[in-house]
Amino acid sequence: MKIFKDKNALQKEILKTKGISFVPTMGGLHKGHISLIKQSKKSKFKTLVSIFVNPKQFNKKSDFRSYPRNIKKDIKLLKKLKIDYLYIPTFKDIYGFRTKNKVFLDKSSKELCGKFRKGHFEGVLNVVNRFIEIIKPRYIFLGKKDYQQLYLIKKHIKKREIKSKIIECKTIRENNGVACSSRNLNLSRSQMKIASNIFYYLRNLKKKIKKNYSLFKINKIKKELTKLGANKIDYLENYNIKSFKKIKNTNKKYNLFFAYYIKKVRLIDNI
Ligand code: PAF
Repeated sequence: MKIFKDKNALQKEILKTKGISFVPTMGGLHKGHISLIKQSKKSKFKTLVSIFVNPKQFNKKSDFRSYPRNIKKDIKLLKKLKIDYLYIPTFKDIYGFRTKNKVFLDKSSKELCGKFRKGHFEGVLNVVNRFIEIIKPRYIFLGKKDYQQLYLIKKHIKKREIKSKIIECKTIRENNGVACSSRNLNLSRSQMKIASNIFYYLRNLKKKIKKNYSLFKINKIKKELTKLGANKIDYLENYNIKSFKKIKNTNKKYNLFFAYYIKKVRLIDNI
């Protein structure tokens, strides 16, 4: 595994390859990332993983500061997984150049997480657009846990006619049902149990509302989640996963999207 901290050196190396399969991350690697990397390694291209905690996608400084970081452990894991390249850029390496493409922000970026984390998706698309221009990957592997992010990146790529193909990967869960996330590293054992109870409660709720949508009573559900230990609920909404619009009935395929806090830790998922 070759490690790069500078895009010029990285680009020189990439030129020698047939193409790159890219797994962008912010570190704090978990089973979800491992699964993305394993899928990437099955492609015929070299696998490049990036670790960059992108300050521009955090709407609160405190959230940026407390985001889990464990670079030594991450490097050890990536070596074991035998990836080809690891890119750990500095802020300047990423933001110190003018991009060719302007970020395209679909209007759905103002909904769900976009409503509660001002500037978040602008920040995500900005950094992803820059990574794409540096690496020009053939494939980009992204997880469905961050479904809105995945949707918006796909829209940007389509609009700007970028050649990279997004590979959507299923959400990987802990044995207790909770979606793998770097943020889980900030949860205590008892808080993880709360997250697990909330997951099962909502999964069960989804089964019930599929049969009878009138059971989707938002205030009652929010009260129930608070009883289970959620401290603040940002949203709980059913969205068609193709059109990414709020559903009016349960005829089409939809997911229940939610974001809530356990103390200071914000968790999102969709089921
Ligand atoms: O999903 C993430 O970890 C980040 O949003 C990403 C795609 C690496 C951009 O910083």
